[in-house]
Amino acid sequence: MAKKTVNYYLVKIVRITGWILFLIMVLFITTGFALCGKYGFGKIISTQAALRIHKIFDMPLIVFFLAHSLVAIYLAFRRWGWIKKRKTA
Ligand code: HEM
Repeated sequence: MAKKTVNYYLVKIVRITGWILFLIMVLFITTGFALCGKYGFGKIISTQAALRIHKIFDMPLIVFFLAHSLVAIYLAFRRWGWIKKRKTA
């Protein structure tokens, strides 16, 4: 079996965190609308529960957002040649 490169794991990180971020964003958007009383989301979830979800998931949102975007930006810089691959001796 071919050896997996660092690149392979970095792309995996971007893809997995991307999907987790998508789920977290759906939670934030729906609970946010519930808190504002917009589009009927207040009927699905109470204000207290919506606020609790917002508070519980704020740190995961920051952590996954940073992991996803920083790794994706690093890979893009490498692809564009702005960051060169280290030469092995
Ligand atoms: C909350 C905001 C975001 C969400 C929900 C999100 C979600 C996703 C999802 C679901 C994917 C597809 C993963 C797959 O192919 O299986 C993806 C890919 C990607 N995202 Fe994000 N993303 C967000 C923000 C960002 C930001 C800020 C950047 C940085 C510039 C970024 C850069 C990328 C790149 C480059 C890919 C393609 C990775 C590849 O397959 O080569 N994303 N994102």
